[in-house]
Amino acid sequence: MSSAKTLRKLFALHLSAIMVLSLAACAGNAETTPSDSGNSAPSDEQIPNESSGSQEAKTTFPESTAAPATDSSEETDSGASDSKILVAYFSHTGENYGVGVIEKGNTHIIADMIAEETGADLFEIATVNPYPDTYDECTDVAKQEQNDNARPEIINPPENPDQYDTVFIGYPIWWGDLPMAVYTFLESCDFAGKTVIPFCTHEGSGLSDTKSSIENACPGATVLDGLAVRGSVAQNEQEEAKEDVIEWLDGLKYTN
Ligand SMILES: Cc1cc2nc3c(=O)[nH]c(=O)nc-3n(C[C@H](O)[C@H](O)[C@H](O)COP(=O)(O)O)c2cc1C
Repeated sequence: MSSAKTLRKLFALHLSAIMVLSLAACAGNAETTPSDSGNSAPSDEQIPNESSGSQEAKTTFPESTAAPATDSSEETDSGASDSKILVAYFSHTGENYGVGVIEKGNTHIIADMIAEETGADLFEIATVNPYPDTYDECTDVAKQEQNDNARPEIINPPENPDQYDTVFIGYPIWWGDLPMAVYTFLESCDFAGKTVIPFCTHEGSGLSDTKSSIENACPGATVLDGLAVRGSVAQNEQEEAKEDVIEWLDGLKYTN
């Protein structure tokens, strides 16, 4: 058996264990879980260290074409009235866990829903070197990057987020944490004083400890509790996923 297949089996076993633990911890919860739950990394030693300082910024965020989100005249601490919002996401197409070969990534689907509901701008975090299409190869590359605490170069990294008050940051859970390209993105910007809101897709880990990872990578930002959606639900049960997205945004006062 190839090492890739062995890894895949090991990962599938990890996911099974994760799902059992998640179910035990969150008995009764729906598949979409606004979560502050603890762990669920595939294995502890694969979690990268805290991120280092920011890197030099080079370009700008995408131009805004959308109206700022409005909710009501009454604004809350986390409300969106008059705020300018960005949805930045990383998402992988090709072969993926439990959904076969996909043309639009699971996280991308959720990112589009959030942007539609909030009137936010969208920014795709894409790497200069694309990830392999096949699942086994992609997991190998992602694991190696995590072990190396790598910062893969991203296309058109943002210069600064000054025009945005709120940044939704979306990603698939990779080996229990953020894909390393998301660290590249977060460390490219100064989010101090901004509100950063995580959302992820996953196949059992929920948000894992990614809220903490984001807090560490974004000093001075207010990081809210995030939304975790199963990738297979995002891909194949979009009405259900959308209801959960809207309910979550309503709770945050971020719907139009
Ligand atoms: C490299 C890699 C590592 C993954 N690691 C995990 C994991 O640790 N926990 C988990 O629940 N799902 C894991 N998954 C499954 C993805 O999080 C899930 O399929 C996600 O919805 C993919 O989103 P995307 O289509 O936006 O990339 C992994 C998938 C890949 C490709």
